[in-house]
Amino acid sequence: KKVAVVFGGRSVEHEVSVITGLQVIENIDKEKYDVIPIYINKEGKWLTGDALLDFENFKNDNLKGLKEIILTSIYNDNKIYLHPEKIGLFSKKLIDNIDVVFPALHGTNGEDGTLQGVFELLNIPYVGGSVLGSAVGMDKIMMKSVFKAYELPMVDYIWFFRRKWDENKEEIIKEAEEKLGYPVFVKPANLGSSIGISKATDREKLKEAVEIAIRYDRKIIIEKGVENPREINCAVLGYDDKIKTSVCEEPVGWQDLLSYEDKYIKSNSKSGKGDRRIIPADLKDNIKEEIESLAKKAFMAVDGRGVARIDFLVDKDENIYVNEINTLPGSISYYLWEPAGITFKDLINELIEIAME
Ligand code: DAL
Ligand code: MG
Repeated sequence: KKVAVVFGGRSVEHEVSVITGLQVIENIDKEKYDVIPIYINKEGKWLTGDALLDFENFKNDNLKGLKEIILTSIYNDNKIYLHPEKIGLFSKKLIDNIDVVFPALHGTNGEDGTLQGVFELLNIPYVGGSVLGSAVGMDKIMMKSVFKAYELPMVDYIWFFRRKWDENKEEIIKEAEEKLGYPVFVKPANLGSSIGISKATDREKLKEAVEIAIRYDRKIIIEKGVENPREINCAVLGYDDKIKTSVCEEPVGWQDLLSYEDKYIKSNSKSGKGDRRIIPADLKDNIKEEIESLAKKAFMAVDGRGVARIDFLVDKDENIYVNEINTLPGSISYYLWEPAGITFKDLINELIEIAME
């Protein structure tokens, strides 16, 4: 069987996705599957070729000999094709050659249902969340609305359109101060990896934080800050109600918010998994059980499929808050399954099997 691993993407999380994609390719069971690497560059071009298989080529900007895949909707036999003319690699139509797609993309145009929609139309099975689940999981406002309906505990928040900010800052500031006080976190609704997110401890900083966030998105969310929280993350694997949880991890050594740098650069390893996280996290049994149960609920709330990582905050009084769900987590959260004896290879096999059900 042929598995297309798609990575990169038109997203601020492009670089992280390259790491995840290459990790997936490296760990796919080569006895069972042939890999077709598909790299979506920052302009949104789809490219394939052997140069993609070596991480060094990305570091040195040395991606030579790639063929472009033209994603088009020419109608031919009333079917939509990933147009194969420019590829040359495939004797037949590309879609005839792919049995299953493994999206290894984070953020917009990949983790948000858009790419999933392409493969739905093409009738190619794909790993991970559905169009609906991916879309709900990506938009923090949608996500929180759904979580609220499922009575999952969350910090208080408000949200608004960028346009409203431009028109009437004072009203938004008043609402934030009345409902949330300080500190708060200001976030674009649709991004991951902490990009565009800042903490504000007073009115001036709040204004600055919003000005940053509106560069990234038309919808902005302001969340009440939790004082010195622990961040605890837990992954869920499966589909429908056939799901299980991983061990929990606790990222450490961060302040206020876990920045892009903390997550992927300081950790100083290809996996984005450094010694800056404790696995398994040191938690009392009751907290651990509560987190596992909430993680499963959050997964089901967004109609999860495959693997997702749910991120929590725990305050000093042991209140637990669901922070967010990542429907295509960095490194597919493989390192959270290893303690239970599920290797990265097993995890990929299981995800592909779920996709093909
Ligand atoms: N969005 C990043 C990749 C993560 O949360 O894992
Ligand atoms: Mg995230």
